[in-house]
Amino acid sequence: MLTKEMQEEILRLKKENDICILVHAYQSHDIWEIADYMGDSYGLSLKAAKAPQKTILMCGVRFMAETVKILSPDKKVLLANPLAGCAMADQLDVARLTELKKQYPGHTVVAYINTTSELKTICDVCVTSSSAPKIIKNIKERDILFVPDCNLGAWIAKQVPEKNIQLIDGGCPVHANVTIDAVRQARKRHPDALLLVHPESLPEVTENADYAGSTTGIMDFAKKSDAKEFIIGTENSIVQHLQFECPEKAFYPLSKDCVCNDMRLTTLADVYGCVKGIAGEEITLADDVMEKARRCIDTMITLVQ
Ligand code: 13P
Ligand code: SF4
Repeated sequence: MLTKEMQEEILRLKKENDICILVHAYQSHDIWEIADYMGDSYGLSLKAAKAPQKTILMCGVRFMAETVKILSPDKKVLLANPLAGCAMADQLDVARLTELKKQYPGHTVVAYINTTSELKTICDVCVTSSSAPKIIKNIKERDILFVPDCNLGAWIAKQVPEKNIQLIDGGCPVHANVTIDAVRQARKRHPDALLLVHPESLPEVTENADYAGSTTGIMDFAKKSDAKEFIIGTENSIVQHLQFECPEKAFYPLSKDCVCNDMRLTTLADVYGCVKGIAGEEITLADDVMEKARRCIDTMITLVQ
């Protein structure tokens, strides 16, 4: 079967079976093309809450599908490839966070959305990279325990100096792979290019960038900018997507090592299997987990207004 034929079949079957396909920006271009919505973690959670279809198929990683289920508990939610996890989300469990909370009494616990639903049950507020500075500004309390990404946390802390933000050891191993040396080399190779990075990058990388923001933030910046060349410091799929969107501009990866194997797992064939009803994993979460985790996701949506 040709890619185009498979895409046409997916479009036909998703309509026939009342399925909404949500696609994270790091997915491959052939999957982008069959999406009802493609975006960053914040955009995906808003769409998940509003999708009218009976079934939602998430092409991304597990915590994203869990967020969809929490926001739409009565819907059938599928994760396109059951093996697609997030190395950062798996770093912090309930037992360790319970200990940390004892260490930092009175702190408001803010969790990056890249966490498990169990962890969210004992957090106060959730944030995504695009919503974090605004949400943290809007939290009344001054003392904050931010988990688990210390790189994203350091980037937020700089923008909200009035808060006392406690960070822990943790973060995205994919973005942490990219060193300041990679920045120097890329700047040397492309002296006229702007450097756009994700705030999950190491602080010394983010500090040397021309722009830091979420996946959609990076793409919007590149599209609107008058510059002609860009070095992209996030998962390398974004380099390809931008090259498709803006063929008159040039995009270069900051590092060949910025590759998330989990995000790369899902294929168009997985999506085809899901809309046919023979692939994917249906997400099921205990009612009390959904109820408690939902509080911190709802608070995120309220505080961003
Ligand atoms: P975004 O919210 O920017 O899409 O980030 C998700 C992610 O997993 C980045 O590594
Ligand atoms: Fe998780 Fe990092 Fe992959 Fe994003 S890039 S899904 S944070 S491991």
